[in-house]
Amino acid sequence: MQKLANKTAIVTGAGSGMGKAIAELFAREGARTVLADINLEALEAVAAQIQQAGGKAIAVKVNVTEETDIEKMIATAVERYGTLDILVNNAGIMDNFKTVAEVNDALWDRILAINLTGPFKASRAAIKIMEKQENGGVIINNASVGGLFGTRGGAAYVASKHGLVGLTKNIAATYGRMGKVRCNAIAPGGVNTNITKTITEPSEMGYKALMNVGEGVIGEPEEIAAVALFLASDDSSFVNGDVIKADGGWTAG
Ligand SMILES: NC(=O)c1ccc[n+]([C@@H]2O[C@H](COP(=O)([O-])OP(=O)(O)OC[C@H]3O[C@@H](n4cnc5c(N)ncnc54)[C@H](O)[C@@H]3O)[C@@H](O)[C@H]2O)c1
Repeated sequence: MQKLANKTAIVTGAGSGMGKAIAELFAREGARTVLADINLEALEAVAAQIQQAGGKAIAVKVNVTEETDIEKMIATAVERYGTLDILVNNAGIMDNFKTVAEVNDALWDRILAINLTGPFKASRAAIKIMEKQENGGVIINNASVGGLFGTRGGAAYVASKHGLVGLTKNIAATYGRMGKVRCNAIAPGGVNTNITKTITEPSEMGYKALMNVGEGVIGEPEEIAAVALFLASDDSSFVNGDVIKADGGWTAG
Protein backbone atom coordinates (compact mmCIF):
# COMPACT_ATOMS: atom_id res chain seq x y z
CA MET A 1 0.00 0.00 0.00
CA GLN A 2 1.22 3.49 -0.82
CA LYS A 3 2.04 5.41 2.33
CA LEU A 4 1.07 8.89 1.08
CA ALA A 5 -1.98 8.14 -1.06
CA ASN A 6 -4.30 11.17 -1.43
CA LYS A 7 -1.84 13.46 0.35
CA THR A 8 -0.55 16.71 -1.07
CA ALA A 9 3.11 17.43 -0.39
CA ILE A 10 5.21 20.53 -1.02
CA VAL A 11 8.97 20.02 -1.16
CA THR A 12 11.28 23.05 -1.33
CA GLY A 13 14.69 22.71 -2.93
CA ALA A 14 13.27 19.83 -5.00
CA GLY A 15 15.51 20.54 -8.00
CA SER A 16 18.52 18.76 -6.54
CA GLY A 17 19.94 16.47 -3.88
CA MET A 18 17.74 15.49 -0.97
CA GLY A 19 14.74 17.56 -2.07
CA LYS A 20 14.72 15.75 -5.42
CA ALA A 21 15.00 12.34 -3.73
CA ILE A 22 12.22 13.23 -1.27
CA ALA A 23 9.91 14.45 -4.06
CA GLU A 24 10.52 11.32 -6.12
CA LEU A 25 9.91 8.97 -3.20
CA PHE A 26 6.80 10.84 -2.02
CA ALA A 27 5.34 10.71 -5.55
CA ARG A 28 6.06 6.97 -5.76
CA GLU A 29 4.20 6.61 -2.47
CA GLY A 30 1.14 8.27 -3.98
CA ALA A 31 1.57 11.91 -2.96
CA ARG A 32 0.47 14.73 -5.24
CA THR A 33 3.62 16.83 -5.20
CA VAL A 34 4.33 20.53 -5.60
CA LEU A 35 8.03 20.97 -6.30
CA ALA A 36 9.54 24.34 -5.39
CA ASP A 37 13.02 25.58 -6.21
CA ILE A 38 14.79 28.71 -7.38
CA ASN A 39 16.26 26.65 -10.26
CA LEU A 40 13.26 26.15 -12.58
CA GLU A 41 15.16 24.20 -15.23
CA ALA A 42 16.29 21.55 -12.75
CA LEU A 43 12.85 21.50 -11.16
CA GLU A 44 11.04 20.93 -14.47
CA ALA A 45 13.32 17.98 -15.22
CA VAL A 46 12.46 16.41 -11.85
CA ALA A 47 8.73 17.04 -12.39
CA ALA A 48 8.88 15.49 -15.87
CA GLN A 49 10.65 12.41 -14.50
CA ILE A 50 7.98 11.98 -11.80
CA GLN A 51 5.17 12.39 -14.33
CA GLN A 52 6.77 9.89 -16.73
CA ALA A 53 6.88 7.38 -13.89
CA GLY A 54 3.11 7.89 -13.39
CA GLY A 55 3.35 10.26 -10.44
CA LYS A 56 1.87 13.70 -9.86
CA ALA A 57 4.14 16.76 -9.83
CA ILE A 58 3.83 20.49 -10.45
CA ALA A 59 6.96 22.64 -10.68
CA VAL A 60 6.77 26.15 -9.19
CA LYS A 61 9.69 28.57 -9.32
CA VAL A 62 10.13 29.72 -5.74
CA ASN A 63 12.76 31.72 -3.92
CA VAL A 64 12.04 30.87 -0.28
CA THR A 65 13.21 34.35 0.76
CA GLU A 66 10.29 35.91 -1.17
CA GLU A 67 6.96 35.90 0.67
CA THR A 68 4.99 36.26 -2.60
CA ASP A 69 6.72 33.13 -3.93
CA ILE A 70 5.83 31.24 -0.76
CA GLU A 71 2.20 32.33 -1.08
CA LYS A 72 2.19 31.17 -4.71
CA MET A 73 3.65 27.79 -3.67
CA ILE A 74 1.00 27.22 -0.99
CA ALA A 75 -1.83 28.46 -3.22
CA THR A 76 -0.73 26.10 -6.01
CA ALA A 77 -1.04 23.10 -3.69
CA VAL A 78 -4.48 24.07 -2.43
CA GLU A 79 -5.92 25.24 -5.75
CA ARG A 80 -4.59 22.38 -7.87
CA TYR A 81 -4.89 19.49 -5.42
CA GLY A 82 -7.48 20.66 -2.85
CA THR A 83 -5.41 20.09 0.32
CA LEU A 84 -1.99 20.72 1.82
CA ASP A 85 -0.98 17.77 3.98
CA ILE A 86 2.82 17.79 4.03
CA LEU A 87 5.36 20.62 3.86
CA VAL A 88 9.04 19.73 3.58
CA ASN A 89 11.25 22.75 4.25
CA ASN A 90 14.38 21.42 2.59
CA ALA A 91 15.93 24.27 0.57
CA GLY A 92 19.12 25.45 2.20
CA ILE A 93 22.62 26.68 1.50
CA MET A 94 26.04 26.53 3.18
CA ASP A 95 28.40 29.31 4.24
CA ASN A 96 31.95 28.19 3.44
CA PHE A 97 32.51 27.42 7.14
CA LYS A 98 33.07 31.13 7.91
CA THR A 99 33.77 31.72 11.60
CA VAL A 100 31.96 34.45 13.49
CA ALA A 101 34.80 36.92 12.97
CA GLU A 102 34.92 36.13 9.25
CA VAL A 103 31.25 36.17 8.30
CA ASN A 104 30.04 39.47 6.82
CA ASP A 105 26.55 40.87 7.20
CA ALA A 106 25.49 39.96 3.67
CA LEU A 107 26.41 36.28 4.08
CA TRP A 108 24.86 36.10 7.57
CA ASP A 109 21.60 37.65 6.31
CA ARG A 110 21.44 35.39 3.25
CA ILE A 111 22.03 32.18 5.21
CA LEU A 112 19.44 33.11 7.85
CA ALA A 113 16.93 34.22 5.18
CA ILE A 114 17.09 30.95 3.22
CA ASN A 115 17.73 28.40 5.99
CA LEU A 116 15.54 29.80 8.76
CA THR A 117 13.22 32.66 7.75
CA GLY A 118 12.12 30.78 4.61
CA PRO A 119 10.99 27.71 6.59
CA PHE A 120 9.33 30.00 9.16
CA LYS A 121 7.30 31.83 6.49
CA ALA A 122 6.40 28.64 4.64
CA SER A 123 5.34 27.00 7.91
CA ARG A 124 3.25 30.04 8.88
CA ALA A 125 1.41 29.95 5.56
CA ALA A 126 1.00 26.15 5.63
CA ILE A 127 -0.29 25.97 9.20
CA LYS A 128 -3.09 28.41 8.38
CA ILE A 129 -4.36 25.79 5.90
CA MET A 130 -3.46 22.66 7.88
CA GLU A 131 -5.13 23.65 11.14
CA LYS A 132 -8.45 24.02 9.35
CA GLN A 133 -8.23 20.56 7.73
CA GLU A 134 -9.82 17.61 9.46
CA ASN A 135 -6.60 15.61 9.24
CA GLY A 136 -4.28 18.50 10.05
CA GLY A 137 -0.85 18.25 8.48
CA VAL A 138 2.81 17.44 8.82
CA ILE A 139 5.84 19.72 8.58
CA ILE A 140 9.35 18.31 8.10
CA ASN A 141 12.36 20.58 8.37
CA ASN A 142 15.62 19.43 6.83
CA ALA A 143 18.07 20.75 9.41
CA SER A 144 21.56 19.25 9.76
CA VAL A 145 23.91 17.84 12.36
CA GLY A 146 24.96 21.51 12.24
CA GLY A 147 21.66 22.16 14.02
CA LEU A 148 22.82 20.06 16.98
CA PHE A 149 26.59 20.57 17.13
CA GLY A 150 28.91 23.54 16.66
CA THR A 151 31.39 22.63 13.96
CA ARG A 152 29.46 21.15 11.03
CA GLY A 153 29.27 24.51 9.24
CA GLY A 154 30.18 28.13 9.76
CA ALA A 155 28.67 30.45 12.35
CA ALA A 156 25.70 31.47 10.19
CA TYR A 157 24.92 27.94 9.00
CA VAL A 158 25.13 26.45 12.50
CA ALA A 159 23.02 29.29 13.95
CA SER A 160 20.41 28.95 11.19
CA LYS A 161 20.11 25.19 11.64
CA HIS A 162 19.95 25.42 15.46
CA GLY A 163 17.20 28.01 14.88
CA LEU A 164 15.38 25.60 12.59
CA VAL A 165 15.51 22.90 15.27
CA GLY A 166 14.04 25.42 17.74
CA LEU A 167 11.29 26.36 15.31
CA THR A 168 10.52 22.66 14.84
CA LYS A 169 10.07 22.12 18.58
CA ASN A 170 7.98 25.25 19.00
CA ILE A 171 5.59 24.28 16.21
CA ALA A 172 5.33 20.73 17.59
CA ALA A 173 4.71 21.88 21.14
CA THR A 174 2.04 24.41 20.20
CA TYR A 175 0.19 22.96 17.21
CA GLY A 176 0.89 19.29 17.95
CA ARG A 177 -0.81 19.47 21.32
CA MET A 178 -3.99 20.34 19.49
CA GLY A 179 -3.55 17.12 17.51
CA LYS A 180 -3.42 19.00 14.26
CA VAL A 181 0.08 19.63 12.97
CA ARG A 182 3.07 17.41 13.66
CA CYS A 183 6.48 18.94 13.07
CA ASN A 184 9.82 17.11 13.09
CA ALA A 185 13.31 17.72 11.78
CA ILE A 186 15.94 15.60 10.12
CA ALA A 187 19.60 16.17 10.94
CA PRO A 188 21.61 14.67 8.10
CA GLY A 189 25.35 14.25 8.28
CA GLY A 190 27.36 14.45 5.05
CA VAL A 191 25.20 13.58 2.05
CA ASN A 192 26.26 13.23 -1.58
CA THR A 193 24.52 16.25 -3.20
CA ASN A 194 25.37 19.39 -5.14
CA ILE A 195 25.75 21.44 -1.95
CA THR A 196 29.43 20.47 -1.71
CA LYS A 197 30.05 22.38 -4.99
CA THR A 198 29.16 25.55 -3.10
CA ILE A 199 32.09 25.09 -0.72
CA THR A 200 34.35 27.27 -2.83
CA GLU A 201 36.48 29.23 -0.34
CA PRO A 202 36.27 27.36 2.96
CA SER A 203 37.51 29.20 6.00
CA GLU A 204 40.76 27.65 7.18
CA MET A 205 39.75 28.01 10.82
CA GLY A 206 36.18 26.81 10.29
CA TYR A 207 37.30 23.82 8.24
CA LYS A 208 39.95 22.92 10.81
CA ALA A 209 37.26 22.88 13.50
CA LEU A 210 35.28 20.43 11.35
CA MET A 211 38.33 18.22 10.81
CA ASN A 212 38.94 18.18 14.57
CA VAL A 213 35.77 16.13 14.99
CA GLY A 214 36.74 13.87 12.09
CA GLU A 215 35.20 13.15 8.74
CA GLY A 216 31.95 11.25 8.67
CA VAL A 217 30.80 8.69 6.16
CA ILE A 218 28.82 10.11 3.25
CA GLY A 219 25.22 9.08 2.75
CA GLU A 220 23.01 9.15 -0.33
CA PRO A 221 19.99 11.47 -0.75
CA GLU A 222 17.67 8.44 -0.92
CA GLU A 223 18.71 7.48 2.63
CA ILE A 224 17.43 10.82 3.87
CA ALA A 225 14.28 10.57 1.73
CA ALA A 226 13.44 7.33 3.56
CA VAL A 227 13.55 9.18 6.89
CA ALA A 228 11.37 11.96 5.44
CA LEU A 229 8.83 9.36 4.27
CA PHE A 230 8.64 7.92 7.78
CA LEU A 231 8.05 11.40 9.22
CA ALA A 232 5.47 12.30 6.55
CA SER A 233 3.45 9.11 6.90
CA ASP A 234 1.16 7.86 9.64
CA ASP A 235 3.94 5.43 10.66
CA SER A 236 5.26 8.34 12.76
CA SER A 237 1.86 9.43 14.12
CA PHE A 238 3.19 9.73 17.70
CA VAL A 239 6.51 11.35 16.74
CA ASN A 240 6.34 15.12 17.20
CA GLY A 241 9.02 17.71 17.92
CA ASP A 242 11.84 15.27 17.37
CA VAL A 243 15.08 15.64 15.46
CA ILE A 244 16.13 12.44 13.74
CA LYS A 245 19.86 12.25 13.06
CA ALA A 246 20.78 10.41 9.88
CA ASP A 247 24.55 10.62 9.75
CA GLY A 248 25.82 7.05 9.55
CA GLY A 249 27.04 7.34 13.14
CA TRP A 250 29.25 10.41 12.54
CA THR A 251 28.19 12.14 15.75
CA ALA A 252 27.78 8.96 17.80
CA GLY A 253 31.39 8.72 18.87
N1 LIG B 1 24.40 17.60 1.66
C1 LIG B 1 24.73 17.62 2.93
O1 LIG B 1 25.81 17.11 3.30
C2 LIG B 1 23.78 18.20 3.96
C3 LIG B 1 23.95 17.82 5.29
C4 LIG B 1 23.06 18.29 6.25
C5 LIG B 1 22.01 19.10 5.88
N2 LIG B 1 21.86 19.47 4.57
C6 LIG B 1 20.70 20.30 4.24
O2 LIG B 1 19.89 19.62 3.33
C7 LIG B 1 19.13 20.55 2.56
C8 LIG B 1 19.19 20.16 1.09
O3 LIG B 1 20.52 20.31 0.63
P1 LIG B 1 21.21 19.37 -0.46
O4 LIG B 1 22.44 18.85 0.17
O5 LIG B 1 20.24 18.46 -1.07
O6 LIG B 1 21.70 20.52 -1.47
P2 LIG B 1 21.56 20.79 -3.02
O7 LIG B 1 22.42 21.98 -3.26
O8 LIG B 1 21.81 19.56 -3.82
O9 LIG B 1 20.02 21.19 -3.18
C9 LIG B 1 19.49 22.35 -2.62
C10 LIG B 1 18.40 22.92 -3.52
O10 LIG B 1 17.87 24.10 -2.88
C11 LIG B 1 17.68 25.08 -3.89
N3 LIG B 1 17.68 26.42 -3.31
C12 LIG B 1 18.75 27.12 -2.86
N4 LIG B 1 18.37 28.33 -2.45
C13 LIG B 1 17.03 28.41 -2.65
C14 LIG B 1 16.08 29.43 -2.43
N5 LIG B 1 16.42 30.63 -1.96
N6 LIG B 1 14.78 29.17 -2.73
C15 LIG B 1 14.43 27.97 -3.24
N7 LIG B 1 15.29 26.98 -3.48
C16 LIG B 1 16.59 27.20 -3.19
C17 LIG B 1 18.82 24.86 -4.88
O11 LIG B 1 18.53 25.45 -6.15
C18 LIG B 1 18.93 23.35 -4.91
O12 LIG B 1 18.14 22.79 -5.94
C19 LIG B 1 19.71 21.92 2.90
O13 LIG B 1 18.85 22.58 3.79
C20 LIG B 1 21.03 21.60 3.55
O14 LIG B 1 21.44 22.60 4.47
C21 LIG B 1 22.74 19.05 3.61
